[in-house]
Amino acid sequence: MSRTCFFNLHATPRMSTTSAPLSRFLDRRGFLRTTALTGGAIHLATRKSAIAQQTAAGRTIKCALVGCGAQGNALRTASKDVPGIQWVAMCDIWKFSIAKTRGGFLGENKHQIDGEVKIYDDVEAMLEKQPEIEAVFIATPDFLHAPLSRLCLSKGKHVYCEKMMSNSLEGALDMAKAGKEYPNQVFQIGHQRHSNPRYINLRENILKKGVLGRVTHCYAQWNRGVSGSQPQDAVKGYDIPNDVLNKYGYGNIFEFRNWRYFAKYGGGPLSDLGAHQIDMFNWMYESNPVSVIATGAVDYYDGLDGRPKYELPDNMMCIYEFNTPGGVLRAYYQVLTTTGSQGAYEKHMGVGGTAIISELDTNGNQLYAEPGNSWEEIALGENPPIVKPQDKAKSKFWEHPRDWEKPKPPSYGAVSMADVRESKALSQWDLAVKLQRKPHSPHVQNFIEAVQMKKPSHLTCPVDMAYKSCVTVLKAYEAAKTGAKYLFKPEDFAI
Ligand SMILES: NC(=O)c1ccc[n+]([C@@H]2O[C@H](COP(=O)([O-])OP(=O)(O)OC[C@H]3O[C@@H](n4cnc5c(N)ncnc54)[C@H](O)[C@@H]3O)[C@@H](O)[C@H]2O)c1
Repeated sequence: MSRTCFFNLHATPRMSTTSAPLSRFLDRRGFLRTTALTGGAIHLATRKSAIAQQTAAGRTIKCALVGCGAQGNALRTASKDVPGIQWVAMCDIWKFSIAKTRGGFLGENKHQIDGEVKIYDDVEAMLEKQPEIEAVFIATPDFLHAPLSRLCLSKGKHVYCEKMMSNSLEGALDMAKAGKEYPNQVFQIGHQRHSNPRYINLRENILKKGVLGRVTHCYAQWNRGVSGSQPQDAVKGYDIPNDVLNKYGYGNIFEFRNWRYFAKYGGGPLSDLGAHQIDMFNWMYESNPVSVIATGAVDYYDGLDGRPKYELPDNMMCIYEFNTPGGVLRAYYQVLTTTGSQGAYEKHMGVGGTAIISELDTNGNQLYAEPGNSWEEIALGENPPIVKPQDKAKSKFWEHPRDWEKPKPPSYGAVSMADVRESKALSQWDLAVKLQRKPHSPHVQNFIEAVQMKKPSHLTCPVDMAYKSCVTVLKAYEAAKTGAKYLFKPEDFAI
C-alpha cells in the first residue's frame, strides 16, 4: 500500500469475500449499516487524518484476523488505537462470527482499512490469495493454535497467537520449536499482562525493588459463578450442519460453541483463566516452579438435573513452589466456575507488605504496608509507583481500614474463647500507574512495534517464555490425576 493511497480521504472501506458473496453473510440490518457507512465521508476523513499522523512514526503492517469470535473481536477493538495496523483479511468458519466482525471492521476500525477486508473460511487459501499479509492474529480455539501458527510462520508471516498456547503440551512444544525455526519472525503469545503498564509497575518498581520484603506467598483466584459459566448456544439463523463441523474437527454444535470445556479442543477453566494468572507467578518472579500439587474435578456441570455436561474440571486448586533467591515461594491458585465470590485478582504477600492487582483496577489495585514499614519515600517524586488511596477500599472484605469500633472478643471471665492475637492494622496505598486503554491494546502495540522493527527481541511475551507458563499450567492436571506432588524437571521446560 502506498502512503498516498492510505491517506486518500475519499477512499471508502469495503469488504469482499473470496469464498462466498458478502450478501450471504449479511442480514438486512447489516446491509443497512453498510449502506449508512458509505455515506459517512466527513466522519471517515477526520478519522483517516488522525491515523495518518499516528502511522507517520512507523511502517504500516497489513494484518489478518483468524478466529473472529469473542476474543478475535476483543483484539480487533483493542487494535483501534494502535498505530500502524491495516486490516486486510479476516477468516472464520462461522458466518455469525464473520457478520459480527465485519460490522466491527466497517464501524469502529474503519480508519484502519484502506480498500477491502477480504473474507475467508480457510487460512491456507487466505495466505495464498493475499501474499501481502505480513502479520496474522490467531484467536481460534486452542487446539488450532499450533497448526495455524506453524502454517503462518512457514509462509513468512509474523504471528500474534492467543493464549493458552495449546490444549496439549505436545502442541505447545511444537509452537515453541517453530519459534526457534523461524527466529527472524515475530511470534507473540497473548498473555497481555506482560505489556500492561500497571503490571509492569508492580513487577519493576515494587517486587523487583523489594518493597514487599521477602515474598513468601502468592495467591490468585478467578471465581466465576454459574451465571457466567452457562453454555453457549447455537445462534438462530446461523446453523452449521454437522458434516461441516466434522470437517473442521468439531463433534457437534455444543462442542463447537463450548470448546474450552473439552480436552480435544481446550484446556478447561484452569487453562482458560489460569493461563493469565499462573503465568503471573512465573513472570513476576522470573522463575519456573519446582513442584505442584493440585486437585479438581467436574463438581457441578455433570449433565444431571438440567445442568450442562462439561468434560474438564470446573473447579481446580493448585499449590506451586518456586525457589526464588529469597527462599521458597508458595503460590496458591484457584479457579472456580461455580461461585463468583471476590472475582479475579492476584495477590503478592511479603513480610513487608502485600500487593493486590487485577486486570480491572476496580477488582484490585491496592498495597498494604506491614506495621513498621514506611513507604512515604517511595510515594515521593514526579511519577511515584504508589500513591495514597483516594478512597478506603471498603467494598472488599480484605484489610478494611479499621475506622469502626472494633468489637471486643467474647470472653468468659479471664479465659478468652479464641486466640485474639491479631496483627496491627496495615496502611493502605494504591498502585499509581493506570491504563487508560483496553487491556489488550499495549500488547497488540508491542507486537506491531516488533514487526515494524523486525525485532523479535522487542516482544514482551515471546513464544519460548509463554511455553514455560503453559507447562506450569498443564502439569497441574498431571498432579491432580495422580494426587501426588509433581516435581518439575529441567527438561519439562526445555525446548
Ligand atoms: N487474552 C485473553 O484475554 C483471552 C480472552 C478470551 C479468550 N482468549 C483466547 O482466544 C481464543 C478464542 O477464544 P474465544 O473466546 O474468542 O472463542 P470463541 O468460541 O468465541 O471464538 C472462536 C472463533 O474461532 C472460529 N473458528 C473455529 N475453528 C476455526 C477454523 N478452523 N478456522 C477459522 N476460525 C475458526 C469460531 O467460528 C469462532 O468464531 C482462545 O484461544 C482463548 O483462550 C484469550
